Parts: sequence; structure tokens; C-alpha cells
Amino acid sequence: MITYNEQKRIFKLDTANTTYMIGIIDSESFIGHIYYGKRLKEADASYLLRTEEPPFVPSKNNRERCAFYDCFPFEYPVGGMGDYRESCLSIRTAGGHAGAMLSYVFHEIMPGKPRLEGLPATFGTEEECETLKLVCEDKYVGMQVELIYTTFHDTDVITRSARIINAGQEPFYLTKVYSACIDMDNRDFDMISLHGSWARERHIQRKTLGYGIQNVSSFRGESSHQDHPFLALVGKNTTQEHGEVYAMNFVYSGNFRAQAEVSQFDHVRMSMGIHPENFCWKLESGESFQAPEVVMVYTDKGLDAMTGAFHKLYKKHLIRGKYKDKKRPILINNWEATYFDFNSEKLLAIAKEASGLGIEMLVMDDGWFGKRNNDDCALGDWQVNEDKINGGLKKLVDEVNKIGMKFGIWFEPEMISPDSELYRQHPDWAIAIPGRPITESRQQYVLDLSRKEVMDHVYNMVASVLKSANIEYVKWDMNRQLSDLGSACLPADRQGELYHRYVLAVYEMQERLIHDFPDLLLENCSGGGARFDPGMLYFSPQIWCSDDTDAKERLEIQEGTALLYPLSTMGAHVSDCPNHITGRMTPFETRGIVALAGTFGYELDVTKILEEDKKQIPEQVAMYHKYNDLIREGDYYRIASYSANHRFDCWQLVSEDKKESLVTYVQVLGSPNFKSRCILLKGLDEDLHYEVDFVQNTEAEFKIYSGDTLMKAGLLIQNPSGDFQARLVHLTAVD
Ligand code: GLA
Repeated sequence: MITYNEQKRIFKLDTANTTYMIGIIDSESFIGHIYYGKRLKEADASYLLRTEEPPFVPSKNNRERCAFYDCFPFEYPVGGMGDYRESCLSIRTAGGHAGAMLSYVFHEIMPGKPRLEGLPATFGTEEECETLKLVCEDKYVGMQVELIYTTFHDTDVITRSARIINAGQEPFYLTKVYSACIDMDNRDFDMISLHGSWARERHIQRKTLGYGIQNVSSFRGESSHQDHPFLALVGKNTTQEHGEVYAMNFVYSGNFRAQAEVSQFDHVRMSMGIHPENFCWKLESGESFQAPEVVMVYTDKGLDAMTGAFHKLYKKHLIRGKYKDKKRPILINNWEATYFDFNSEKLLAIAKEASGLGIEMLVMDDGWFGKRNNDDCALGDWQVNEDKINGGLKKLVDEVNKIGMKFGIWFEPEMISPDSELYRQHPDWAIAIPGRPITESRQQYVLDLSRKEVMDHVYNMVASVLKSANIEYVKWDMNRQLSDLGSACLPADRQGELYHRYVLAVYEMQERLIHDFPDLLLENCSGGGARFDPGMLYFSPQIWCSDDTDAKERLEIQEGTALLYPLSTMGAHVSDCPNHITGRMTPFETRGIVALAGTFGYELDVTKILEEDKKQIPEQVAMYHKYNDLIREGDYYRIASYSANHRFDCWQLVSEDKKESLVTYVQVLGSPNFKSRCILLKGLDEDLHYEVDFVQNTEAEFKIYSGDTLMKAGLLIQNPSGDFQARLVHLTAVD
């Protein structure tokens, strides 16, 4: 899959359908990006480096060296020497200077994929993937850079990262380190990104790519509700099924920048990495800095193929643990049911009722510890409040287990309330700028997890709660973004490391957690879905997608999320109406069908909801058990997008053997005098026949159609009457 042509000095990285090509040029051994696209048979496309065109390579025309730097497609550009496009790496030497330039030194091609020190990353065995390590250097600075590329055999994905090593005697500072970059000719691209807000995460945005710099980013200390660490450049005519897509997704949960720059020469530089805002990392002699991983996908088969590549990679080569390929217990969470106003009796009443309906796990959300009766206080005081939980946690958990349910619990380990015992004892444990009042958000501060004693203390508190009872699930929340960056322990010239050290500490804590409690089901959360990214997925197989559980709002949130992430990762619950966030009424049935496209659970007081709603729960539970394997493991196709057509939504899952499929159709607003809609299915076997079951239509006889007909002529769906109506269609091969 990875070859090196020694004579031409060309690396060719192949996946099943794509080729990525790198060349080394000139006596100075600059490393250039030749090509990324459809798989090439031949290895020689080095003319794309344009080293014979003016401005010539420096060895032939040193007079225009600066112009050469400004148009050469560097594989990993460094700033300060005359490439005026945005670089991937900026440094400051001990003398205060910034310029550097990388030249090839040596390379290694190896089976498998080395781990990235301290960071989440995709993985694979020696049979599943292959890695190229390209080592380059700037001898004036004494800096080595390792560019790491991995190709996977079972999916059209290439991952990239970079490691910067101080190979000299003097310390220097990294003021920007990106992880990946592709320089290529502009082909009239559009740019797709995911934009959002609290309760409105990851809405798909598509716009024209123009000259200059365009980027999406976060410097909120987490990947954020607002922008997502993802960027795709697509052809003007690219659709779900056709056209070119260049995509990058960042396996990281902190500050990021994803950028495209169109230069004066109509070249595009697409790059991704840690956001340089407030970033400054000191490298002493012999030290190294590992940049996080970028996942790159190229396809000429449209957005469905891009999604398929990401889903496959994340399902097989990122998510870990006991629940990686397993059905998750159907949970009921008490947050929207009770908020802070609960006690053991209330929780047990919910558990009893829920268990009788087929729900399998009770999750006790925020408010069970310290004096936490509202969100003003007690974060950090992780001792159970026995005024609420009468007789202690073990007693409650045992009783829930006796009812036949598992038990789960909420934590927000990264935070500290100013009104908490922990803060009164350790005011210096909060992230703060000395002498300045800390900016509050949800009346809480962020713990300085870069300090080992702080991390250890919080981890031990969480672990001791988990050891005290049979707790089988944790919801790990994070409800404010970082500000006022300052650590009481870092020296002045390392304060710029805090953002990244914080993220590394979160990773270390979660790694410890899943190592010490291997059977635990971990669900990450951040004020809903502000840290829904591949970094967190390495630790938890599911993430709470959004605090917004309104079935109509969820269509756009889940569509944007599923553009990259498998449905098995998306925390989705049925909640009560009027919806607590939007005030909207939607049918209970529709809320169930939309939540089925995620992990599936409930977030309501089952002792108080309407009888007619409650009656539907056992049916929804049965559907979950019937379809969840297909939803979790199947190939996902987007049939129609409500955000694009403003009328209806439709997605489909197809089993790997193509013998089973599930179609979900949601009519958002009813329209008069409009009887049926024909939708073209995808991913079926054209030579098989399928029995088509309109799941909610108990009267109808099953009809049989060929896969060929269903994909070319389509499936007729009778338009339901009313707004927010959802239909499920189940197809089973009969040949
Ligand atoms: C966040 C989460 C919610 C809930 C509350 C509790 O907003 O996203 O699901 O856990 O915190 O405070």
C-alpha cells in the first residue's frame, strides 16, 4: 500500500480507491505534495510539483527563491522564509527568531500504526494498516519533524500527524503546530462545515470557497457547540451520491483550526491543527511535541461515500471497549424528569415504572452530591447527599438492581464551584489569572487538571464513588468553556501550554477510568454536544448529542452528526412535551423513531406522562431490540435532508450482507392535497428481492420488490396526515 520509488524519490500511498503522493525535490530535499485523489496506476506524477516551470527551483534560479517558496506545494510548510500562505508550524528560537525550513532526512515504512503518545488516535493491526514516517529537519534550529501517515486496507482513509523534536542544544518554542496540510489546485470548490450553538449543534453549512483564508475554529478549550473540527472541500456539483470530496476530521477535543486558503496562483492549501491562539509550547533539548491526528478522506463518489469511510474507520479503528460492537442498555435519565428536585423515593418510583415497560437502566443525573440543589454550587464535592439519597448510594443502587435495572450516574469531574468545600480548601486549584477575578460561567470554574495532584484528587473521588456500589454507566459532563487561562504551577514561559495540557489531562483521566473499570459504559457530554469529537469517542463509545431532544430539531442535529459519526455514537432520548427547550409538541411515536437512530433512551418522568404515551414505550422498546443491530452496525445512507428541502427527512440503514434494511421517513410539516412520495433507496442488492414492511401499518400485506426497482424507480410512501409524522419501513431479502 505504501511504496517508495528511490530513483524518482516519490512516495505513493494507496488505499483501495485513492492515491496520495509525496515527492522529494532538489539538492535541498524539500518535501512536496504531488497528488491526492482517485487511485493512480503509475507512480510518476511528479511534474505536478512544477519544478520545471518558473519560478524555478532554487538550485536553478536562486534569485527567485522567495517566489518559489510562495508557490511550492509543501507537504508541511513552515513559516518565516517566504511562503506567505498560512504555515503548519511556527517556532520562536531562544534568540527570538521565527524562520525555519524543512528538508528530508530519512524515512521508514512499517506495517501497523504506532500509538501517539498521550493522545487518542485510530489504530489497526499489522495486517490492517501501514505507516510511513518521513523525518525532516531544520539544521539551523536543531529541529526534527516526523510526518506520520497511515493507510488503512479496509477503508479509503489516510491519517496524518506530526511530531516535533528538539534535536539541538538550545530550547525553542512552538507557537503553532498543525497536524496536516494538503496543497492542490483550486477546482472551484465549495466548503462544507458543521456550525451550531448550545441545543443546535452541528448543522451542515455549505458555501463557496473564495480567494483568501476561510476557516472554522474553536479556542474555547473544547471542540465546541459552535464550530466542529471538520472541513470538507467539495466540487460545485458534488451531491450525496456523486462528485469529489476532500475531508479532514480532527481526533482532538480542544482548540482547533480547520482552514482553506486560496492563493494568488489559484492553489488551495487545506490545513488542520491545534488553534495557535494562546498556544506556546516550550521544547527543551531532547523533548518532543506530538500533534494530534487528522483523518483524511478523499472520494469521487459524493458525501455518502465520505460518510461511509468515516463511519467504518470509527466503528472499527477508533471506538474501544466492551460496548464497541454491543447493544447498549435502554436507559432512563432523570434530568428532564426532576432536575435537582429528587430523592431516592422519586428515583425508585421512576425505576419501578420504567422497568415494567422494558427500560433497562436508571441514570441519576446532576444533583446527588454535596449541597447541590441547584447549579450554583458543590461541583467538586463528590460525596453523596444523604438528605436526598436516603441510606447512601449503595442502598439505592441495590434497590434499583433488585427491580431488575442497571444503575448509572452523572459526574462533572473537570469543574469546581466557587461555593464548594473543595474550592474553600484549594482556591488555587481553579484555572485563573493571578490577581484577576475569574470569569464565571454557569457559576463555576474549571479545575487546573495540568496539576497532577488536582487530577489525582478528582480521579480518586470519582473512582471511590464508582467502587462504592454496582454502578455500570457514567455520564461525564463538562458544562463550561475555558477562559482566564492561568495555572498556579506552570512557569511564565509555559503558561501557553495550559490549553493543551488540560486536554491531555482529560484524556489521561478517562484512560485511567476505562482501564480501572473495564465494564463501565461511559457516555461523554458537554452541555449537550460541545465535545462530540473523535478524540472523546476513543474513550466513550457514545456521546450525548445535544440537550435538545425536540424530535424536529434533532433531525438537523443528527444529520450533521451522522455526516461523520456512526449512529451508535449519538446519545438520543425520548423526552416529554411540550419540549423543555423549544416548547414544541411532537407525537410520542415520532420522538421514539427519531431517538431510535441513536443510542436510544428516555428522559422524562414515566410516572407522570400521558397514559397513551406510556403505552407506546413497550412497542418502542421492542423496536429497539429488533432494529438496533442494524442501526448500530449497518451502512448509513442519507436519502433526503430536511435542512436542504425544508419538508421531509429520510435516511436508510443497510446490513453488511444487504439482506436487511430500515428506512426512516419524517414528514416535518403536512401539506394539503399531496398523497404520496417516491423515494429512491440506496445500498440494496439489485439482484435480490425484498419484502417491504411498513412497520406501523398493521393491516397491510407485505409487498415484494426487487432491489433494482427500489433503487431506480423508488419506494412509494403514503404521506401521513399531520405535522411531525414519522414512518419506518423494514426491508428483508426473500430470495
Ligand atoms: C448538561 C447536560 C444535561 C444535564 C445537565 C445537568 O447541560 O448536557 O444533560 O446533565 O448538564 O446539569
